[in-house]
Amino acid sequence: MITSEEVRKLFINFFEKRGHKNIPSSSLIPSDDLSVLLIPAGMQPLKKYFTGEKNALNDFGTQRLISIQKCFRTTDIDEIGDERHLTFFEMLGNFSFSPVGSDDPSDYSNSGYFKKSAIYWAYEFLIQELGLKIDYVSIFKGENNIPLDEEAKKIWLSLGLSEDQIKLFGREDNFWGPTGDEGPCGPTTEIYVDNIEIWNLVFNEYYQEKNGVLRKLNLRGVDTGMGLERLMKVIQKTETIFETDLFEPLRITLLNLKSDINQRDLRIILDHLRSSVFLISDGVLPSNLERGYILRRILRRLMLKLVKYNLLDYLDQLVLAVKNKFNSIYENLNNYDKIINVIKGEFVSFEKTLRRGLNKFDRIVVYRNREEMIEKLFIMFSSYGLPLDISAEILKERGVFLDNKDLELFQILFKKHQEVSRPTNE
Ligand code: GLY
Repeated sequence: MITSEEVRKLFINFFEKRGHKNIPSSSLIPSDDLSVLLIPAGMQPLKKYFTGEKNALNDFGTQRLISIQKCFRTTDIDEIGDERHLTFFEMLGNFSFSPVGSDDPSDYSNSGYFKKSAIYWAYEFLIQELGLKIDYVSIFKGENNIPLDEEAKKIWLSLGLSEDQIKLFGREDNFWGPTGDEGPCGPTTEIYVDNIEIWNLVFNEYYQEKNGVLRKLNLRGVDTGMGLERLMKVIQKTETIFETDLFEPLRITLLNLKSDINQRDLRIILDHLRSSVFLISDGVLPSNLERGYILRRILRRLMLKLVKYNLLDYLDQLVLAVKNKFNSIYENLNNYDKIINVIKGEFVSFEKTLRRGLNKFDRIVVYRNREEMIEKLFIMFSSYGLPLDISAEILKERGVFLDNKDLELFQILFKKHQEVSRPTNE
């Protein structure tokens, strides 16, 4: 069975042979870019090459780059626990910047390329290098004055896909970006294996302004993104991403310690432990602001689960399992002492609140209707310091799911509370 280590090597070799330079993953903390709190995609650190503010030929000696980028998607935090969402993941990507050269897939030089080479190489890599079978692909159907992507369609047909295997989707599904509130973006073609979208090929020809208006760039760039976890799932034919070798030996270590962890909790622990280790190793510290708050939320939910299964005493062993899996790739994970100290520090400061909150939870949250329940949750927050997302997680374990109306009510109570407790000058 092909391992993730082998896939990394195959990807790098394949694209290096085709004129690409492999650049190391950037930190999860963006440098010189205020548009996002954490890096959400491989293209983010390369934005200025797509807009023409920087030139890859000057900086790297080629218009072709690849990376295996550490990514973090904050939008997915509340979904963690299902079969496919992750906060932290790694993204394989090949990138090309203007000007476009021959766009001939047999041209292995250092010039820019566009749709033909990008699609040919994606096809070749999946079929010939990894032995996978493409079920179908999708292309941009044309919408909002952006035309149907006839060119991508022709290329796929020339590779032997049938009309039926080429699905058409609009702006919602087959147009990527921008990240943050402005930036390069464009129509995509997406590749599905085992009914899972595994590779997104973005043809960056547009720039979206802050006011939402799209303008056509004079440049043509290629930005592709293939999540390593999903790719390993289809290669290793596991039931979900969590059984791939990317989560070993952590998953086995956890199950050896506690064989009765339910699936959802297991996935939350696997995801949150991995992502907090990576965030801390890149310099994020828990706080009440921005990325520090993202880390804090993750650590608190992780702690809730570790307490539930009496696993808190095994924290060192669990963090070590993550470190041992990845430290040959990401050297800063060797800073084990710092990582473990930050996690423990946060756990110590939250432990009293959590244990007190858990003790009171059952007694206080006896609810007859939704409104009453939210009022009780607000008391848990205002009097016992238990954050709403932790209360929500405890409720979820009991099959009660908060909706937007509940959250709005909580906000109203929060505002009222602030007004009442605000000091006056009278
Ligand atoms: N930048 C392409 C992707 O993240 O899918």
